[in-house]
Amino acid sequence: MSVLEELKKECLDCTACPLRKGARQVVFGVGNENARIMFVGEGPGEQEDIQGEPFVGKSGQLLDKYLELVGLSRKENIYIANIVKCRPEGNRDPKEEEQDVCIGWLRRQAREIKPDIIVCLGRIAAQKLISPDFRVTSQHGKFFEKGGILFMGTFHPSALLRYETNKPLALSDFQALREKAKALGIL
Ligand code: URA
Repeated sequence: MSVLEELKKECLDCTACPLRKGARQVVFGVGNENARIMFVGEGPGEQEDIQGEPFVGKSGQLLDKYLELVGLSRKENIYIANIVKCRPEGNRDPKEEEQDVCIGWLRRQAREIKPDIIVCLGRIAAQKLISPDFRVTSQHGKFFEKGGILFMGTFHPSALLRYETNKPLALSDFQALREKAKALGIL
């Protein structure tokens, strides 16, 4: 069993915050354990809670389309996880204290995967991982270096399903990601 598989086993038993009681299961993460690019969302929705994998509902299907357009895939060269591993009821935003309890799992995932780039999907992930005052509308697509990792924030796919006008901006963020990945010899 790999270290990441061991971590997953441990995480699936976590009851450290009240979210676990309202969720069907813990949604740990999916993808290539050696991925050089990691994507982080905010937390599982209903479909993710049912299927046990991040981004498998409607927003996940949109994410997969953008990934495919730039030569990325959860089956091959990326890893996807969330800030919180258990579904907040009714798809509400995870509370600050829930994020703080859960983020240790993400840190340990990132320590094992050692990505060069972390893409934050939406405000919650970007504010937690890049900066508390991160604004997706004005800072999406920009790269920020922190502790030897490049972070980029972009629109959450669910937000794109609601406000389709931002889709071209999201696409340009994914194209910028591809260029960065090429420059780093990842693609
Ligand atoms: N939204 C998220 O932020 N994460 C998921 O896994 C699904 C929807």
